[in-house]
Amino acid sequence: MTSANIESLLHENRLFEPAATLSKALGGAYVKNAADYRRRYQRSIEDPETFWAEIAKGFDWFRPWTKVLDWKVPDAQWFVGGKTNVCHNCVDRQVLQGHGHEVAIIWEGEPSGANGPEIRHLSYRDLQRETSKLANALKALGVRKGDVVTIYMGMVPELAIAMLACARIGAAHSVIFGGFAAAAIVDRVQDAQSKVILTCDGAWRRGQVVPLKDNVDAACETLAANHAAVEHVVVLRRVGNAVKWHPRDHWWHDLTLTASDACPPEWCDAEDLLFLLYTSGSTGKPKGIRHTTGGYMVYTAATAKEVFNLVPGAHQVYWCTADCGWVTGHSYIVYGILPNRVPTLMYEGAPNAPKEDRFWEIVARHRVTHFYTAPTAIRAFMKWGDEHPKRHDLSSLKVLGSVGEPINPEAWIWYHDTIGGGRCPIVDTWWQTETGGHMITPLPCATPLVPGSCTHPFFGIDAAIVNENGEEQPANAGGLLVIRKPWPAMLRGIHGDRQRYIDTYWSRVPGMYLAGDGARRDERGYFWIMGRIDDVINVSGHRLGTMEVESALVAHDAVVEAAVVGMPHEIKGTGVAAFVTLGPGHEASDALRKSLMEHVTKEIGAIARPDMIRFTQALPKTRSGKIMRRLLRDIAAGKESRQDTTTLEDYTVLAKLRESDE
Ligand code: WT7
Repeated sequence: MTSANIESLLHENRLFEPAATLSKALGGAYVKNAADYRRRYQRSIEDPETFWAEIAKGFDWFRPWTKVLDWKVPDAQWFVGGKTNVCHNCVDRQVLQGHGHEVAIIWEGEPSGANGPEIRHLSYRDLQRETSKLANALKALGVRKGDVVTIYMGMVPELAIAMLACARIGAAHSVIFGGFAAAAIVDRVQDAQSKVILTCDGAWRRGQVVPLKDNVDAACETLAANHAAVEHVVVLRRVGNAVKWHPRDHWWHDLTLTASDACPPEWCDAEDLLFLLYTSGSTGKPKGIRHTTGGYMVYTAATAKEVFNLVPGAHQVYWCTADCGWVTGHSYIVYGILPNRVPTLMYEGAPNAPKEDRFWEIVARHRVTHFYTAPTAIRAFMKWGDEHPKRHDLSSLKVLGSVGEPINPEAWIWYHDTIGGGRCPIVDTWWQTETGGHMITPLPCATPLVPGSCTHPFFGIDAAIVNENGEEQPANAGGLLVIRKPWPAMLRGIHGDRQRYIDTYWSRVPGMYLAGDGARRDERGYFWIMGRIDDVINVSGHRLGTMEVESALVAHDAVVEAAVVGMPHEIKGTGVAAFVTLGPGHEASDALRKSLMEHVTKEIGAIARPDMIRFTQALPKTRSGKIMRRLLRDIAAGKESRQDTTTLEDYTVLAKLRESDE
C-alpha cells in the first residue's frame, strides 16, 4: 500500500432519481438525463478545445481568440489573443440585448424597521450606471489597468459593484472577507502591493456594527510603518457610525456624485488578471490565488447555467448565502450568475438575525427558486430545530445546493426533506478557490443522487483517483483526487510565489493537478470526498479520512457536529481523537461517551473507534465554516499551539476546548 491509499469504511446506497416534473418546473432542462450527460461528457473530454470554444462563442468578444488552449504543465492559457471584458458580459451585454430594466440583484439588509427590512432591486441598467461611475472615480484616483484594488466591505450591492467596476477598467480586485481583522488586511494588501482600498464605515452583523473603517485605519497604520503605504481609501456610508478621517480617505458618494456615468469597458486580454483571492493554506501565509479573464468568465457562467439549470425569463430567483469574500461569492453570486440573466439575491447579515428563521423568511418573501449554502450552515439549522423552516412557505424552491465540505448523509436527508420538501434535488458541488468553478457535481435534471456523494465530473473535467505514481485506483479504493487535463477557470498561479504553486499542486503526482483531497470512486463511478489529505489519520497502518468517522458520529442522535483528528497513541502510533458537540437535551456523560464509541464501531468498524472523545460547546472554525483540525491536533496531543489563528472565527473556542470535559 502506498501512502496515498485511504481506506473507505462508509457505505451509503440510497438513490434519489430526478423527479420527472422538475425539467418543466425549471423552464426546460439543459441536460435531460444520465445518458445525455454521458454523451456530452464524452464529447467534452475527447475534444475539450472544441467543447469550450463553442461555449465561449456565446459571450461578447471584442477580438476573437486565435488559439483555444496553450498548455504546458503547469501553465494554461485559454482563448489566446482574445479580447473581452467581464463586466461588459455581466452587465452591458444584458442592456444591449434589451434587458436593461430587468432585475440583476435583489438585496436585503439585516436590520428590520417597522416596515420590515430594507430591500433594494438593482437592474442591469443600474449596474451599468453605478459600475461606470465608480470605475471613473477609481481612474481619477490613478487606478490603472493591472493595478490591484483591495475591497473590504460588508454584503451590500456596492460590493458587487466594486468588483465589477474593477473588471470594467481592467484592474484586478482582491476582496478580503469583512469578518477578518486588521492583521489579515495588512498581509493581503502588502502581498498584492495594493494602493487603494474600498471599504464601508461599518457592516451590520447580528444587530452589531462591525467597524470596517476602523480596521482599515489600523491596517493602514501598520502598512505605512512597513513602507507599504495605502494611498486612497474610499468609504461607503452604510451604517452611519462615527469614523476617523485621514487625508487618504474619500467618501464613495462624493466621488461618484460628480463622476461621469459613461465608461466604456476596457479591452482586456483573455489572460489579464481578473482577481486575486487569498486562501489560507493549512499552514503558513495565505496564498494569493490568481484568476484571469476569459477562461474564468466562460467557465463560471457555463457551470452556473448547467449546475443550477438557470433559465432567463422563467421567474427564477437564485440565492447563494456565501459572502463575496469567498470564491463562492465571486463565482456564484456575481460572475457566474449575472451573464445568465437570473436575479441574484444578496443578503447582508446573519442567518439568526433577528431569529433563527431569517433565511426561510427571505426564501418565502422573494420566492427563491435556487438556494445554495454550506453543510456547516445546514447542521446549524438542524440544531436550531424544524419549527423555523416549518413556519414559512418554502414551496418556491426547486434546486438546492451544497458547497464547502462533504455533506454528511444525515444532513443531506434533512436538507432534502425539511427544506426541499422532498421535491428538490441537491447539487453537492465539489470545487476549490483554485478551480474557480464547480468541478464534480450533479446536474439537477440528469443525475441520480446518493446522499454524501458529489457524483460526477462536470464537462471537460478529467477527474480521477490515483496513487502517488499517478495510476488510477480501483473502485472504492481511496486515493488522491487529481485533475488530469487543464480547464478554463483553473488558477494561473500563486501571486508572487511560483515555487509554492509548483510544490503545492504539481509536484506530488507529476503532470496532474493535485487537489489536496482524499477521495474514492464507487463501483458506479460516483465520487466521494474523504477529507483533506493533510488530515488523514494513520491508525495501525490503516489510513482513515476524517469525513467518514465524523459522519458516523453525527449520525448519532445526540450529536450535531464532530471533528476527528489523530493523536499520539502508545500502541497504535496514532489514535483517533473526537471532538463532539451535543444537541439540545443531551448531556455529556461517560455513558454517552461509551455509546458513541460503540456507535462508530458499529457504523464503520473498530479500527475507527475513537480513543478519546471530548464534549465541547463549539469547534474551532474558519469564518467560511471549515473546521481547523490542525488546532485540534495540538489540543488532542496536549501541546500549546504556536500556529496561525488569524482566520479563526471565534478565539474563545480554543480556551474552552482546552478546558473541555475529557
Ligand atoms: C475545499 C476547497 C469551493 C468553494 C468553497 C470552499 C472542500 C468544497 C466540497 C464538497 C466535499 C468539499 C474540499 C476542497 N470542499 N466543496 N461539495 N464536498 N468537500 O473553497 O476554501 O477553496 O476549499 O473544500 O476539501 O478541497 P475552498
